[in-house]
Amino acid sequence: MKTMLSGIKPTGQLTLGNYIGAIKQFISYQNDYEMLIFIADLHALTLPIDPKELKENTENLIAIYLACGLDPNKVILFKQSDVHEHAELGYILACQSNMGELSRMTQYKDKSSKISNKESIPTGLFIYPTLMAADILLYDADYVPVGIDQKQHVELTRDIAERFNRTYGGGFKIPETVLARSGAKINSLSDPNKKMSKSESDKGTIYLLDDLALSRKKIMSAVTDMDNEVRFDMENKPGISNLLTIMSTLSNRSIEDLENEYRHGGYGNFKKAVADVVISELEALQNKVNEIKKSGIISQVLLEGSKKAEALASKKLELIYKKIGLR
Ligand code: AMP
Ligand code: TRP
Repeated sequence: MKTMLSGIKPTGQLTLGNYIGAIKQFISYQNDYEMLIFIADLHALTLPIDPKELKENTENLIAIYLACGLDPNKVILFKQSDVHEHAELGYILACQSNMGELSRMTQYKDKSSKISNKESIPTGLFIYPTLMAADILLYDADYVPVGIDQKQHVELTRDIAERFNRTYGGGFKIPETVLARSGAKINSLSDPNKKMSKSESDKGTIYLLDDLALSRKKIMSAVTDMDNEVRFDMENKPGISNLLTIMSTLSNRSIEDLENEYRHGGYGNFKKAVADVVISELEALQNKVNEIKKSGIISQVLLEGSKKAEALASKKLELIYKKIGLR
């Protein structure tokens, strides 16, 4: 079986967009590959983050993945910082990379351009891709599912691995990017022409673990149009089309089916139906998340996951140390 690996950064809170567009599809991979999924907590440190928030985000993320059906018997689930080989190989790979290629990374350019004093750009942000390369190369991953924004980092990983293999006579498997099978795109409730995202306005974003009454209110006040007909038309009726998409994916009903039922019943009535579906899905998810958090299973899952990961990572790191003359 081929190996697939991906990391999730514990920054910010997960949204309904992440849930519909990514998490559910992602979990379906666990039956087809040897999978490793880790919480990229070291990567979360590249920009300032409050320690308490980091801890909470990490726990919530693991709980959400488990609640959504990620099976720790099929997937090696662990925290990056629990497996010290990531940081160690990260250093080795920083020594195999150069300032030129790291400066060309789009994510680095974007994030550093927002920092006005160039002297204070964090070094961690600059070497982010070498740590990411270590994450991938430690486990001989065949496939790395990521969003389009991370594709460049996987390509750099390939370059670094190929360069290393040429210099030292092998050592690394060359990974391939898999553009994450993306589900429906969910837009902001307050500005339905924009993607729903953590950085968008709070009014337009449903957070998975947020207060349910507040989420209901956000759906009831979703921006629509003046035409009062529930009909899918992305161009002229983005708000209603977005609500139809949300309801359709969560209830497994076709858009046409929903149009037929709600077309002339008024927007208030339709929004209430959408809210009912979203809230009942979120309520079930939140109950599961709370159960998982209370059960103490998270630390157990992480402990077992990190042991399995460490067994693989330590072997690879030892081999690399030998190749470069440290052993
Ligand atoms: P991000 O939170 O932007 O890092 O995205 C993590 C994953 O969730 C990526 O695979 C995105 O494609 C997916 N995602 C994020 N926001 C949305 C959205 N509004 N609709 C659909 N998918 C999304
Ligand atoms: N950089 C990725 C992101 O921002 C997270 C990540 C870290 C990752 N290490 C990885 C993804 C290794 C895939 C493989 O989303």
